[in-house]
Amino acid sequence: MAVRFADRMSKIEGSAIRELLKLTARPEVISFAGGMPAPELFPVEEMKKVSVAVLEEQGRTALQYTSTEGYLPLRQKISARMNNTLKTNVGPDDILITSGSQQGLDFSGKTFIDKGDVILCESPSYMGALNAMKAYEPEFIEIDTDNDGMIMEDLEKVLASNDKVKMIYVIPDFQNPSGRTWPLERRLKFMEIVNKYEIPVIEDNPYGELRFDGESLPSLKSLDTKGLVIYLGTFSKIFCPGYRLGWTCAAPKILAKFNICKQGADLQASTISQMEVSKFMDIYDLDEHVEKIKACYVKRRDVMLQTMKEEFPACVEFTHPQGGLFTWVTFPKGINAGEMAKKCLEKNVAYVPGESFYPNGGVYNTCRLNYSNMPEEKIIEGIKRMGEVLREELAKNEEKELATNK
Ligand SMILES: Cc1ncc(COP(=O)(O)O)c(C=O)c1O
Repeated sequence: MAVRFADRMSKIEGSAIRELLKLTARPEVISFAGGMPAPELFPVEEMKKVSVAVLEEQGRTALQYTSTEGYLPLRQKISARMNNTLKTNVGPDDILITSGSQQGLDFSGKTFIDKGDVILCESPSYMGALNAMKAYEPEFIEIDTDNDGMIMEDLEKVLASNDKVKMIYVIPDFQNPSGRTWPLERRLKFMEIVNKYEIPVIEDNPYGELRFDGESLPSLKSLDTKGLVIYLGTFSKIFCPGYRLGWTCAAPKILAKFNICKQGADLQASTISQMEVSKFMDIYDLDEHVEKIKACYVKRRDVMLQTMKEEFPACVEFTHPQGGLFTWVTFPKGINAGEMAKKCLEKNVAYVPGESFYPNGGVYNTCRLNYSNMPEEKIIEGIKRMGEVLREELAKNEEKELATNK
């Protein structure tokens, strides 16, 4: 077939996670691979009542087009919630409803990036964002991270020496993939640097409300005095991803560009989905629902961390997330997490090797583990099986080393 694709399509690959998820759909697989919420917590019975109420009370509106900005009562609730939980000072007109926050990531690239422009991101970072932005043909510069997130000295060095930086993409709360959270001092320093260079920042925050331990920290958006922070929120992890509802909160000039992107992409987010989620928030208590989710995930996190402590050799390191869905594991240098994933899959355990979370590649000994989606007994069993594979791999490495040293 003699079709000619746009050049940019040669630079974009499908998500490794989405491919892996197809393999992990078998019921016998213990999957730590996806970023999926626990389906048993979805409010199915409540949503049955909500959808009947929406159709009975406002059926014709629910099945009609609505504005590109989105359903006003939902935007009112989102802005009030942001002001409450994130200490922002925003109103409904500062919000654009999107198809998940993923769409906001695509619009960020579309709005700011010309071919060859530089995007700065944490190293590692969320591969779904990197893939969405790759369509706009940027260069990525990865900024090193430590246990407290992005290292500010490294950020400042890059900004001082590179005038092609157009955008900074960060996940300061319970980051995907590392589970790490930036402390307050780092957030303040970051905003100081960003204000100096006046670079737009994408603050991607799907997990911020899922804090199990420690104090809530102010969002970057709440510390933004120059209108540089574009905040991406979502109902996917605090409610359900199936509605595909997220939002962008940004300064009017930027939001207007995102609105144009939205018109071109799909005109608007689904009217009935927006009305149903808004109705749920009228009839039920979303905060109470979030508490239920946290109560379940904190136990799963604890079980995963404790079992790793018991079952993984001491040379393996992992993060201790205070919230969110993921922990990040670093194996000794000789272990290839991609190769090991195949061996784990033979034992019906799946995880995502870390390599694809580095936009420029080159790191092979890390992996991301999700703890939200599997019941506790399966987490224990899956980690035990991973531990067996790990010990086998380490023993093989030792044998190889001995042979080469002889
Ligand atoms: C960091 C991050 N951003 C954005 C998304 C996209 O989420 P959604 O489009 O469901 O809101 C995800 C999904 O896992 C994520 O982890």
